[in-house]
This record gives sequence, structure tokens and C-alpha cells, in this order.
Amino acid sequence: MTSVEKKSSAPVPAGWTYAPAPESTEIVSLRDRYGLYVGGKWLETAERFTTIAPRDELPLAEVAQASEADVANAVAVARSAFESWSALPGSERAKYLFRIARILQERAREFAVLESLNGGKPIKESRDVDLPLAAAHFFYYAGWADKLEYAFPNRAPRPVGVAGQIIPWNFPLLMLAWKIAPALAGGNTVVLKPAETTPLTALLFCDVVRQAELPPGVVNIVTGDGSTGAALVDADVDKIAFTGSTEVGKAIQRRLAGTGKKLTLELGGKAANIVFDDCALDQAVEGIVNGIYFNQGHVCCAGSRLFVQESIAEPLIEKLKKRMATLRVGDPLDKNTDIGAINSKIQLDKIEELVQAGRDEGAEIYQPPCRLPEKGYWFAPTVFTNVAQSYRIAQEEIFGPVLSVLTFRTPDEAVEKANNTPYGLSAGVWTEKGSRILWMAEHLRAGVVWANTFNRFDPTSPFGGYKESGFGREGGRHGLEPYLAFDA
Ligand code: NAI
Ligand code: MG
Repeated sequence: MTSVEKKSSAPVPAGWTYAPAPESTEIVSLRDRYGLYVGGKWLETAERFTTIAPRDELPLAEVAQASEADVANAVAVARSAFESWSALPGSERAKYLFRIARILQERAREFAVLESLNGGKPIKESRDVDLPLAAAHFFYYAGWADKLEYAFPNRAPRPVGVAGQIIPWNFPLLMLAWKIAPALAGGNTVVLKPAETTPLTALLFCDVVRQAELPPGVVNIVTGDGSTGAALVDADVDKIAFTGSTEVGKAIQRRLAGTGKKLTLELGGKAANIVFDDCALDQAVEGIVNGIYFNQGHVCCAGSRLFVQESIAEPLIEKLKKRMATLRVGDPLDKNTDIGAINSKIQLDKIEELVQAGRDEGAEIYQPPCRLPEKGYWFAPTVFTNVAQSYRIAQEEIFGPVLSVLTFRTPDEAVEKANNTPYGLSAGVWTEKGSRILWMAEHLRAGVVWANTFNRFDPTSPFGGYKESGFGREGGRHGLEPYLAFDA
């Protein structure tokens, strides 16, 4: 017998590191400064602020800070545009929406780069998720514009009037699309306020509006901070659509009580992602990673509480940690990046505070080794085990790449623990058993329940919450309803 010589090391290099693959920013041309987009014109304001790139803290442009008077003016312009816009046949309004959708597709790369630059999300997400979905929303609602009486038979739908729309910084262009597309399809005009840290794709969208030759005043964009948002709430609008924090959502609801203005609120969440012992484990691990590390965890429906059936907790957490070690944190514009920059210093401070609370309360933390860039705002993917239901990290929305793991033994226990939250936006269930999926979906108090997947969006599917996650639905036929008034 010949003895086979054993090699001391494998004949492959020890590590396969990715070469940098940065997307060029050349496709985006920014102005030094932007005004408010009102009535198809750019208006100057007395005050301005600087918007930066969270990956390196460098300034990108100066942006207008709209005052109460600026907002009142924008709403008045939207109101005067309402008369002729709402009188157009739905089939005519649809043409504009189709045009906007096509232009967004044509200019997708430009928008994706700008979204990642201003907001910090990985380019592969802005390119493959935000942009296709934003265009899809315009396509979808274009299709409804001339069919409103079929969407709501015998109810004589008509537009509400002027919609004030306030959006957050986690999906800037996509939230704009969620808000503007159904509003215009229904025959309303809008004044939209982007979030203060991410105004640039909304301002670039004004150029799409111009290209599409939308009549002036139908879409107006006013930039500014929370005071601009508050001014919009108080202005002469017929409806407010808000996506953001539960705290501001409650303040808006108090403000609007008794005014007769319509309101929809899409607020925070603390979703349960529930993994049963009969699931496809590797698939579940991918879903868990996608559920919490997608968009740095800046996602209202993020699967931030992982509930694992006790019998598989150990192998699952081991697999999860291995997978986390492969995630690449870094430049949002690099095509290989999985986790980009945290959106702002304020958000980073909030994440750090809650993670410290998790440590102090006694949870066990794991972060894979990764080198974070020196400039900019970063947070390593994090998982906490040994978490009790009462810990702040199990109760409060962290809105960062931080997962809290809890365990359960029976489906009843999973439901009870999952529903033990002030929120009710989304949930995930991982099991091979169809009847269990249906039973869980029936018992979970969440607006969206994903089965064997997570963070899936489609313009045809309504999205929205229960309890402190808000009310009203966006997407689907349901998403048209808040923008319509009915006689019957
Ligand atoms: P925020 O609720 O303050 O901001 C969202 C939008 O509301 C922004 O456009 C902001 O300018 C505007 N706004 C702020 N104060 C307002 C007021 N009084 N009246 C009208 N509009 C106002 O959210 P923020 O401070 O950026 O984030 C705080 C936390 O909120 C996050 O850590 C996260 O937990 C949660 N959040 C949830 C979001 C979701 O998608 N449901 C989105 C953003 C934040
Ligand atoms: Mg705030």
C-alpha cells in the first residue's frame, strides 16, 4: 500500500477578499443649492441647511428650510392646481403617472446613486429594491386612475383635495412614490415634505415631474425639518399622510382631532420573526439576516425580535453568527456592500444608547469582527441573546442593525410573546406546515405576516399597522381609499 502524503495546507489562498467595486457618482449632477419646488418653479427661502453624505459626513448641497408662510403658499398653489387636475378624465391622469414611472426607470441609476449617497443605504438595495419598487408604484396606480368607480363600486369616489404628505429618511424615494402615486391617481394635488436628512431624491424627482410635463402645482416639494412638517399639518390641507415615529404620529393625531382633515399614520414597529423547529433552517437564517440587516435595520417592519423554538435555538444561533461574519459593512456605493452607513449622527446615538441598555440589562452581545471606516456613521451588525421580554431592546424600536433573540416552546407561547408589544406592523413565520402558517397569521396582531420570507413588498399588496404602528393602508386598492371621498 502506498501512503498518501498529507498536505499541511489547502491549495487555495487563505482568504478571498472582494476588490473594491464602487459605483461612480458621476451620473449625478447636484446643484450647490435647492429652493422649494412650488407651482413648477424653484422658490428661494430665507433659511437654508446643508445636507450631507452619512458615509463621510461631507456636504452635498444646501437645501431650503420652508417657513410656515412658505408652506401656506405651497398649499395655496396646490389648491389652485386642484381644480383643473381633478377635472381631468382618469385616463388622462394615468398618462402622466405612466410617464413618471417610465422616466424613473430610465433614470434609475442616477436615482439609486443619489439615494445611497444622501441616505447611506447600500447601492445594491437602492438599485434592486427602492428604484424598481418606486417605479412599480407609479405603474400600478396609473392603472387605477381611470377605474376608480370599479375599485369602489356604487360609492361615487371623488378626490379629497390637497394632500399634505410627510415622509421619513429610510426609504426616501420609495415613500415619496407610496404617497404621491395613489394621491395623483385619485385626482388630488400634493405638497410633500421629505425628511431633513434625505431631501435630495425628492428634489431630483421634481425634474422627473418637469420632464413628464405634469401641470404646475400638482406636485409640490417643500423641504425643512419637523417645524416645516408641523406647518404642513396645520395648513389648509384636506388630508395628511405621515410615515415616521410613533411620537410625532401621536402629536399629529392630537393636532388634527376635530378638524375634519383625513389622516393616515404609518409608524414604528417591533416585528416578531418566528422560527419553528420544522423550518428550512438555512433559508430561515437568510430571512433573519434580511429581516434585520436590510437597510441597516432602518425599517419600520424590520424583524427585530427573533423568536426561536427552543429545540433549535443553539444550531440556529450558531448558523446565524457564521452568516453575520460574512456581511460586508462599508461604503454604500460599493456594489459588494451589505450594510451601509447609519443615516445620521442622531440615529447612531440612539442605536448606541439602546445597545448599551441591552448590555446593562444583562443580555449577551455578539458582533462579528469588522473594520468600520473612520469617517461617517457606522454600526456593526449585532445580535443579542439571553434577552428577556422586559428588556428595552425587546420592547423599543432600535431602527438599527440590532437583533434581539428570544425563545419559545409552543405556538401559543410564540403568539403571546410576539403580541406582547405596543406595535403591530409586521411579523414573520418560518415553518414547513401550511396549517400552522394560517393559524399564526390569524393570531398575530400585525398588519403584514410573511411566511417563509421577509421584507417583501409589492404595490398591489396593502401595508400598514395595528396599535401604535398606526392606521390606514398604503399599497393596493386599499391605498387609494384614504385619497378619496365618498357620498355613500
Ligand atoms: P420623525 O417622526 O421625527 O421624522 C419623520 C418625518 O416627520 C420627517 O420628515 C420629520 O421632519 C417630520 N416631523 C418631525 N416632527 C414633526 C412634527 N412635529 N410635525 C410634523 N412632521 C414632523 O422621526 P425621526 O426623528 O427621524 O426618527 C426617530 C425614530 O422614529 C427612529 O429612530 C425610528 O425609531 C422611528 N422612525 C420610524 C419610521 C417608519 O418608517 N415608521 C421612519 C423614521 C423614523
Ligand atoms: Mg424626530
